[in-house]
Amino acid sequence: VSAGRVGEKHEVVFEPFGKRASVAHNTPIMDAARELMIDVSTICGERGTCGKCKVRVDSGVEQLGPLKPAELRHLLKDQIDGGYRLACVCKVRGPLVIWVPDFSRQGKQRLQTEGLEVPVNLNSPVRKYFVRMHRASLEDSRGDDLRLLEALKEQHGLQVQDVTIDFDLMQRLAEVLREAAWEVTAVVWDDRRIIAVEAGDTSERKFGFAMDIGSTKLAGFLMDLATGKVQAVAARMNPQIAFGDEIMSRLTYAMKSPESLKELQAVLFASTGEMIEECCGQANVRPSEIYECLFVGNSAMEHILLGLRARNVGFAPYAPCFTKGLNISTRGLPRLGVNPGANIYISSIIGGQIGGDSVGDLLVARLLDSDDLLFDIDIGTNTELAVGNKDRVVMCSVPSGPAFEGMQIRHGMRAATGAIEKVSIDPSTLEVWYRAIDDVKPIGICGSALIDIPAELLKAGLIETRGRFNTSLLGDRRLKGRLRKGSDGMEFVLAWEEESGIESDVVITEGDIRALAMAKGAMRTGAAIIMKRRGVTEGDLAKVFVAGAFGNYVDPESARTIGMFPEVPIERVVFVGNSAGTGARMMLISKEARRRGEEIAQKVERIELALEPDFPVEYAKAMYFPHMNLDLYPITKEMLLRLGRISAASPPASLPSASKLHGGGVGL
Ligand code: FES
Repeated sequence: VSAGRVGEKHEVVFEPFGKRASVAHNTPIMDAARELMIDVSTICGERGTCGKCKVRVDSGVEQLGPLKPAELRHLLKDQIDGGYRLACVCKVRGPLVIWVPDFSRQGKQRLQTEGLEVPVNLNSPVRKYFVRMHRASLEDSRGDDLRLLEALKEQHGLQVQDVTIDFDLMQRLAEVLREAAWEVTAVVWDDRRIIAVEAGDTSERKFGFAMDIGSTKLAGFLMDLATGKVQAVAARMNPQIAFGDEIMSRLTYAMKSPESLKELQAVLFASTGEMIEECCGQANVRPSEIYECLFVGNSAMEHILLGLRARNVGFAPYAPCFTKGLNISTRGLPRLGVNPGANIYISSIIGGQIGGDSVGDLLVARLLDSDDLLFDIDIGTNTELAVGNKDRVVMCSVPSGPAFEGMQIRHGMRAATGAIEKVSIDPSTLEVWYRAIDDVKPIGICGSALIDIPAELLKAGLIETRGRFNTSLLGDRRLKGRLRKGSDGMEFVLAWEEESGIESDVVITEGDIRALAMAKGAMRTGAAIIMKRRGVTEGDLAKVFVAGAFGNYVDPESARTIGMFPEVPIERVVFVGNSAGTGARMMLISKEARRRGEEIAQKVERIELALEPDFPVEYAKAMYFPHMNLDLYPITKEMLLRLGRISAASPPASLPSASKLHGGGVGL
């Protein structure tokens, strides 16, 4: 370690920002980052107890000296090997190159509508052509349709023999042409259908709307089809929640009568219409300038959107009404408020419960373009999982329930102001740290913290691997009464009433932990089954893509510790945010991406979990944190051994009984 002198300065470079600062000897890395306005996470006030400020030291690690006790407590073996340190306890004593990973960035935006950006050819099927036409006269009395088509051919070289004019437009065409003094812009979809004709030259302005219909959340994007840029974003809860949290309950409702199906369709369209209006307002776009809308969603959502027979996707043999992408007009659908000639594209679906949202996921993660074996998980009320590469991709969908979206959890809530979004518990002092969104008094707990909580409780020895509270700690003075018997069994206080924004303590109950175990257990079971079918193991996976509404706010280490996905070194885990939404945007602005989406839907091999004999046994094993078979989680196992939470001599855990297994909300 360099001794350094008072007054000596060292250069620190922070990647991936490429920012550099010259800082005084012995400045904590955290302070150097702050000087450059780089927002490294902290919830403990930089006291070395939360472990949220992990950074990777790519050069100069030897200057930092041996690992400090706080680092030994919070860093896993693979992180230590990878050069990770805690930014708040390490001081600059020489030149450094530091990498700040996504998961250690504070970030402001909470609604995960963004996703990984993937390069895509800008090539929307919506084209606009300005034409000056000869006015009709006794000498030239061609029909208005021919006059327009021939002008398109002469002035833009359009092959017009197969181009049609929408009948709705035909009914207004004569007036539009004459009112515009024969100078108009034709909006042509895929060079096949004229869907609108506008007065004057409007060829610069064309917009589209891409929408991801999640069972719980809706995310919509107003896109400029000329530049491929996002103009505005809107998000809200899926209003169908009023008809049931779970997809099955909504499908059951939809099957009651044609009117109930229409009701579910209507609320979805009403919300979509509002989101379109909101986006247009933000971006100064007229809704009539939207010429195409593209929807992705799971199969049930896509069926309900179109008012199609819901029974097909809800019950065996799970044969959907359609699998190929559909291009339809706005006619016959509830009002969206966009251009009446707009094309509506509903993404192809893979089958059963695996819909266009998964097509979006796979477009983004590019499994079918990869030589390496990749794994993709899109966490939601239904979780879709895929594994494979360009040779073969196997996929499944599991009903994991909305627990990680804050539902069915005593103090669960969505990621909004006042939601606890990060939690940390010091494994030795059992001190609890949390951070609430917008730094106000906490009023509930959102998804990213619901992943942290079981991980932190497990590391602190407050729960055992089956998710039960460790009652031997009931009277432990360090806890100051946080662990207690509540009205519904054991519970743990995260925030006391006096520090919370509600008139009670904010707690997590044993029942909540059980709901989380069931949700993550369902996901992990899906993973086990598709990996087995594809003939791969954890060690074969070059990358694990994690998509979902809470995206980048999730601590990947917490997610791995609780066993949400197969254990791989943390460097291989990539959070891609709302990749279904990203895929939808790609397909909206690019014909190639849409074609690729169709190919994906055809090529992916789908497993119907209801038919999998291994499911109950795998599920029972996967309900443990992280898994009943700890050998599948060697990194976590090593950590739990080191912390003394398990002993090398512990007998192998036994499977819970079948009746216990089926006692909760996740079922097939
Ligand atoms: S900020 Fe470094 S451990 Fe909390």
